[in-house]
Parts: sequence; C-alpha cells; structure tokens
Amino acid sequence: MKKQAYIVYDNAVEAFAKKLSEQWQKDGYCEVKAMMAIQATENNKTLSTVESICSWLLGLGADKSATLIGIGGGVTTDMVGLAAALFKRGIDVEYVPTTLLGQVDAAIGGKTGVNLDGVKNALGIVRLPKKVHILEESLETLSPEEFRSGAAELLKTFILFDAGLYAKAVRIFSLVQGAGYTKEAIKSALPEIIELSRAASACKEKAVKKDLFDRDKRHLLNLGHTYGHAIEWWQNVDGGHVAVSYEAKQGAYAEPEKPSLTLANFTHGEAVAIGMVIAARLSEIEGVAQPGLAARIAADLEACGLPTGLPVDAQELLPALANDKKKDGDKIDFVFLKEIGKPVLKKRRLKDLLIAR
Ligand SMILES: NC(=O)c1ccc[n+]([C@@H]2O[C@H](COP(=O)([O-])OP(=O)(O)OC[C@H]3O[C@@H](n4cnc5c(N)ncnc54)[C@H](O)[C@@H]3O)[C@@H](O)[C@H]2O)c1
Ligand SMILES: [Zn+2]
Repeated sequence: MKKQAYIVYDNAVEAFAKKLSEQWQKDGYCEVKAMMAIQATENNKTLSTVESICSWLLGLGADKSATLIGIGGGVTTDMVGLAAALFKRGIDVEYVPTTLLGQVDAAIGGKTGVNLDGVKNALGIVRLPKKVHILEESLETLSPEEFRSGAAELLKTFILFDAGLYAKAVRIFSLVQGAGYTKEAIKSALPEIIELSRAASACKEKAVKKDLFDRDKRHLLNLGHTYGHAIEWWQNVDGGHVAVSYEAKQGAYAEPEKPSLTLANFTHGEAVAIGMVIAARLSEIEGVAQPGLAARIAADLEACGLPTGLPVDAQELLPALANDKKKDGDKIDFVFLKEIGKPVLKKRRLKDLLIAR
C-alpha cells in the first residue's frame, strides 16, 4: 500500500507545500490524504497547536500506519515531530525544512519541542524523523535575516568540527553578503550553499549519534548558545517568551520590564554569532586558545554580515546566563575552542564566564 501522508505546512511556504504534494502524488511517493496550514510563529509553538494537529489527524481517521510530513522552518518541524510522537503513541514523521537553519540544524538530530509558560522548548521528546527532504529552492525565498541566521548555525557546526569547510563557508557567505544578499547573489551561490548545508547536517548527525539524548557530548553543539540565548532573553525576543521564562522560575509570572535600550532585534543565529566570539574570547582568557582566535572569528563573521559585539555588559545578562539549560548545579557546561575545528567542554562557574563588553 502506498504511504498515507498527512502534510502540515507553514502557511508562509504554501506554494512549496502544494507543489511538493502534487509532485509526490504524481511520482507515486505517497498518497496525500490531507493538508493543514499552520501559523509558524514562536507564540504558536505550543501544545495546543500540537493538539490541534492530532485532533485533525483523528478527525480524518488517520491510523498507526499514517505518515505525518512537516514542511516549514524549525517551528513547524519541532511541532510536527512532537505531534507525530504523540499521535497513537507514535507514527512516522518526515520533514521538509524550508529554512537554512532548519536544513542544517532544527530538522537534524531528532529534538522536537514546544514552548510552555514562556519557557522555550520546555516540552519535547527526542525522536528521529524517518526522512528529511531537502527542497533546495526554498532557500531562495528566505529573508536576508533568516538566511544569515541559518548561516550562523552552519558556521557554528564547522567552527566545531571542520576548519576547511569553515573557511569555505566564510568565503561563500561573505561573497553573498558583499553582493548585498540579493536574490540573484543567493541563487548563484546556491549550489555551493546546498553542498555546505549537506556537509553541516552530516557533521551534526555524526555528533548527535554519539549522544542522541543530549547527556554530554551533544552539549558541544551549544557553542555560542550560552551567551546567544542570554542575548535573546535580554532583547526580549519572541514576544517576551524567553524573558518570561526566568521570571516564571522565580514564581512571578508577570512579564518583566522590557530592556530599556532599543537595539537591533537579533535573530537566533545573530545572537549565536556574538556568543561564538565571546566563547573564543573566553577560550583565550582560559589559555585554551592562542591569542588571535577571537579576532579571526569576529572578522570572518562580520564579513558574512553577522554581528559580533556584545550589546550589553555580561552583568546585565546574568539572570539568563544563570538559567542556561546546560547548567549543572552552579556550574555551566561551557564550550570553549582550542582552535577552529577543536572544541572542548569544561564546567565553569558563572562568575568565571562573565566578560566585559
Ligand atoms: N529541534 C532542534 O534541534 C532545533 C534546533 C535549532 C532550532 N530549533 C527551533 O527552530 C526554531 C527556529 O527555526 P527557524 O529559524 O527555521 O524558524 P521558523 O520556523 O520560525 O522560520 C523562520 C521564518 O521564516 C519563514 N519561512 C520558513 N521557510 C521559509 C521560506 N522558504 N521562505 C520564506 N520564509 C520562510 C517562517 O514562516 C518564519 O517566519 C525555533 O523554534 C527553535 O527552537 C530546533
Ligand atoms: Zn541554535
């Protein structure tokens, strides 16, 4: 019997979803039983959206043999993955990540999740998809901000695991940046970007295989994220989601005051780019890396159009740094770099990770 597919897609990529569905039916890949559009925002990344996906499946009479296919960025694939894990105790799931971040990161490694009470990805499960389809042309419609956000995660993977591919990626993304992130520039660089994206997801897969459930080795993938998440908290992204999480832990569910400064709203990848430079600076201070590593990484990221300077003193980020998900007691599992391609995990007290702007 042909695969019975139920497609959930981000309505921002409806045209791609419809085209894929027609193509799959035509070439016999699956029988598309139904399609459901969702609003893929961080605010909608909730159990209630997952429940609505499950109700939709139930209403359509989907059974254990159904395959759920998520088409969209990380918000969509994270929710679709969780819905598939829960529906009838687990049905097959496939992803079509349509953002660069999704292709190199969110759709790889099996983490699913939704936000709860303002805490990002508070509920979730680790469960690998049956298949990840790469739709190359979806990258052509991404905004420059979303494109750079994915580029930062791709660069992160190579800073961790492959110095040669890192240099190649910097060259290609800085060319696209130099050309002003025009559609034409992205289109002409696309074959090389797709090749890099494949290599980055293969690197991530390899790292994940060593520690699927994120107990130790997978923490390496957190390079730049301790400060990255703290910056996201500080600028109150996601409609206050991250900011509320800290307050919620204190027992006060009221939204905290918004940061007083007005600043550029960094995407996740941009915040991670700043976090990677901080990690390199801390690596130099620790004596793990040779002097000059942070300056080199900062120059490379800037050439790719990414920010590298801490927007505030680390002291202001303290509440969020203290909330780091890789925290173990009063110590944080922090990812340092010996050099590009050579990460090292060390447990450090928060006070030893504070750095001036
Ligand atoms: N599961 C994991 O391991 C993992 C890893 C990293 C991030 N994430 C999660 O992924 C999410 C971030 O992923 P994301 O950056 O893909 O976010 P996203 O899904 O919010 O997509 C970003 C934006 O791009 C739009 N979009 C998607 N594809 C498009 C396309 N082809 N053309 C134009 N616009 C398009 C979306 O509608 C959205 O507005 C976060 O919720 C994060 O927690 C999960
Ligand atoms: Zn990330």
